[in-house]
Amino acid sequence: MIVTHTIEHAREQIALLRKKSRRLALVPTMGALHDGHLSLIKLARQHADYVVISIFVNPEQFGPSEDFDNYPRNLDKDLMKCKNENVDLVFAPDLFEVYDTQHFLSIKIDSLNRHMCGGSRPGFFEGVLLIVNKLFNIVTPDVAVFGQKDIQQFLIINQMVNEFNHKIKMVMAPVERANDGLALSSRNVYLSKEERAIAPGLYRSLNYIKTQVRQGVINPSLLIEHQKSELEAKGFKIDYLNVFSYKTIEPVLTLDKGVVYIIAGAVWLGKTRLIDNILIEL
Ligand code: PAF
Repeated sequence: MIVTHTIEHAREQIALLRKKSRRLALVPTMGALHDGHLSLIKLARQHADYVVISIFVNPEQFGPSEDFDNYPRNLDKDLMKCKNENVDLVFAPDLFEVYDTQHFLSIKIDSLNRHMCGGSRPGFFEGVLLIVNKLFNIVTPDVAVFGQKDIQQFLIINQMVNEFNHKIKMVMAPVERANDGLALSSRNVYLSKEERAIAPGLYRSLNYIKTQVRQGVINPSLLIEHQKSELEAKGFKIDYLNVFSYKTIEPVLTLDKGVVYIIAGAVWLGKTRLIDNILIEL
């Protein structure tokens, strides 16, 4: 496994892999790899001959009061996991390698970021696009794999790929869950024992909404208000909980047949923010 920390070295190594005219898949990560990431790596392997992982905690996607400084980091452990998964190349640059000068440009998002996480984390998706656009230009993958857990991230990056003509196939990996349903996330390590026990409640709520919608509820607002109260009673603080259009990421009032929706929530348990979603087509 090649481990590289500089853009120049990464480009050299990727050019060597490319000489064999093989397909290359990129799995962008911020490290603290867990089984969810490993499932992305496995899926990447199904789509390409070589798998490249990037590990970089991107400051541009953290707000001033967010957890950039405390975000879990453990490169040695991550490299072991990558090796066990037969990753071909790990690109783990430091901060100054990626943002070596003051930058003057960003990618403006006209819509798609007004609701869900974009609504509550201003600047977050611009930060994500900044780094992902750089990674796409450095690694030039044929395929890029992202998790459904961050579905808004997937849809916005997919839009960038289409609008900016990146020749990359976007692959969305299903949400990887613990046995009790909690979506795997690097931030789950922040949860206390008590919070961890409550945490699967978010997924249960999303599932309850899905079941009700499947059974014919076409105006989900009352149902959602009820689920919010239930979650609050369990100790969650609600950021958002709603049904969104898969196409526009706008909340929807009435559900139509033949349309794909995202039932999604973001909640706080103490200092930890959890997100999760379920896709449903009526
Ligand atoms: O999903 C993540 O871990 C990050 O947002 C990403 C895509 C690696 C960009 O920093």
